[in-house]
Amino acid sequence: MTLEAVPLSGAMGAEIRGADLRDVDDETFAAIHDILLDHGMIYFRNQDITPVQQLALARRWGEPHFHPYMPGLANHPEIIEIVKNPEDTHTFGGNWHTDQMFTPTPAMGTMLYAKEVPAAGGDTMFANLYLAYETLSDGLKEAISPLHTFNLYDKKKGRSSVMRGKLKEPEKPAEPAEHPLVRPHTETGKPVLYICYDRITRHIVGMSEEESEPLLDFLRHHSTRPEFTCRLRWKVGTLAFWDNRCVQHMALNDYYGQRRVMHRITIRGERTS
Ligand code: SIN
Repeated sequence: MTLEAVPLSGAMGAEIRGADLRDVDDETFAAIHDILLDHGMIYFRNQDITPVQQLALARRWGEPHFHPYMPGLANHPEIIEIVKNPEDTHTFGGNWHTDQMFTPTPAMGTMLYAKEVPAAGGDTMFANLYLAYETLSDGLKEAISPLHTFNLYDKKKGRSSVMRGKLKEPEKPAEPAEHPLVRPHTETGKPVLYICYDRITRHIVGMSEEESEPLLDFLRHHSTRPEFTCRLRWKVGTLAFWDNRCVQHMALNDYYGQRRVMHRITIRGERTS
């Protein structure tokens, strides 16, 4: 296959043209992976793949990561079906985050495949965490580099009613996880500002929520400055893959009255410290 990478914005993201994801050979996968490292998020249009083919492609990146609180499909437990129905006011993944940062081994990457999409709306935003770190002052880089964050899944927070209904053991407390606030990417070695929205990244380790909040609030806003982002408009058959080690994302909740269904697989990552 001859691949072409077309950048989506000045900050990140690229469409890969010329690939048929039903059958990807080693050479093509190596080229796709290189484009991912350069752009942080890649996507392919007009793909028609089965769950088995989606899983085979995902396994090229590594072993699927099972979400601790959200079950997958009965016959393919690695695939979480993300559903928002027309009457739902909440969405799943509707705040800036990196996947499974609330576990000790956050997801390396996420693959999302569009099955049903609204006529307009339901786009996903992405933000480049390399740029978020690079554009801090030297003084702030030095001050935050020894810090770690305390992260905890919020089982009570709003998500679409279908997803809320699927939640495993909703009353049982979630397990927390700590991560460096500045994290080197495991393949490129470049530092990123590793942060999530406030219902996951709760505070700096060794500080109270009140003490941490002014710094975390600044860093959250800084990390999602518009010039660090791109926005993906989904069509049925679009498949995206993003690198959670250097990218945040957020699903936009702007399509009340319409339905959206996506098939998601996350790839297990490494311990961060
Ligand atoms: C997610 O946060 O993984 C879901 C993103 C989306 O549905 O666009």
